[in-house]
Amino acid sequence: MEISLSELKKELLEKTQNIYSDNEAKTIFVWLIEHYFHATSKDFLMDKRVSIATDTFLKYQKAISRLIHGEPIQYILGYTEFFNCRIQVNKDVLIPRPETEVLVDWVVSDVQQMHVSDDLRIADLGTGSGCIAIALASQLQNPVSAIDVSPDAIKLARKNAASNQVNIGLQELDLEHLYDMKGRPDIIVSNPPYVMTIEKEQLETNVIDHEPHIALFAEDPLYFYELIFKYVKRHTKVKYVYLELNHLTADQVAGLFRSIDHDGCQIRKDMRGYKRYLKWYRK
Ligand SMILES: C[S@@+](CC[C@H](N)C(=O)[O-])C[C@H]1O[C@@H](n2cnc3c(N)ncnc32)[C@H](O)[C@@H]1O
Repeated sequence: MEISLSELKKELLEKTQNIYSDNEAKTIFVWLIEHYFHATSKDFLMDKRVSIATDTFLKYQKAISRLIHGEPIQYILGYTEFFNCRIQVNKDVLIPRPETEVLVDWVVSDVQQMHVSDDLRIADLGTGSGCIAIALASQLQNPVSAIDVSPDAIKLARKNAASNQVNIGLQELDLEHLYDMKGRPDIIVSNPPYVMTIEKEQLETNVIDHEPHIALFAEDPLYFYELIFKYVKRHTKVKYVYLELNHLTADQVAGLFRSIDHDGCQIRKDMRGYKRYLKWYRK
């Protein structure tokens, strides 16, 4: 059958108008036509008609009905893009966020500027899909390892490392037992669960209903940061720490690390002006 891309777009915008803004729906549309019809946004702009097999069209329709039920597009397609890496995602892992790319970018540009940096071991704590560890391993020569408490996340991170052709040491481990982590890192990177229960109502329903709560929520918002802090305080081999933060507790987290070394702590804001990232280094 032959269909017009502009008609498909109109249909998608109408059907998802209660869930997505026009801009979000337009982005989703491009993802959908690329995935299902191998069409591009340029094809759409030229109002191309595409010829598609009926079963492909049925798959596309099924994807639309999942979207209408609030399922994130990344889970429907089964992947997302993160720092130029294709990362498979499923219900066991958080969908990698663009703001986390900023954290990765900070680490990459710092490590690239360090002299004799290649031997520094990097550990990603709470790796989920493996996105941070994989992006770092694809950009840097350094040995990278990662841990997560979820065996299903570790399984998917392993698959993602293989499909991105990078080598990462993956370990199923609770952050509470960080002392059992294999290999002592020089650099720690982490985007731990940091959404407080009181913030639940502010989250979009498609996040709450579909993404794993173990990856999102921390009953005590400082819990994971304190575990990392205790490890870093004791293991003086750790020279750098990069963390993604909840802006509501950013100052408290900074306070912890400043208690080890006051001057080496820096906070950066995200695009919305919230304190979102911390870098700490041991002088
Ligand atoms: C916010 S997600 C981050 C995932 C990924 N690093 C990212 O940036 O997209 C937090 C991750 O921490 C993991 N996690 C939760 N509790 C943990 C614990 N006690 N020990 C280790 N990892 C844990 C979750 O399974 C989840 O993958």
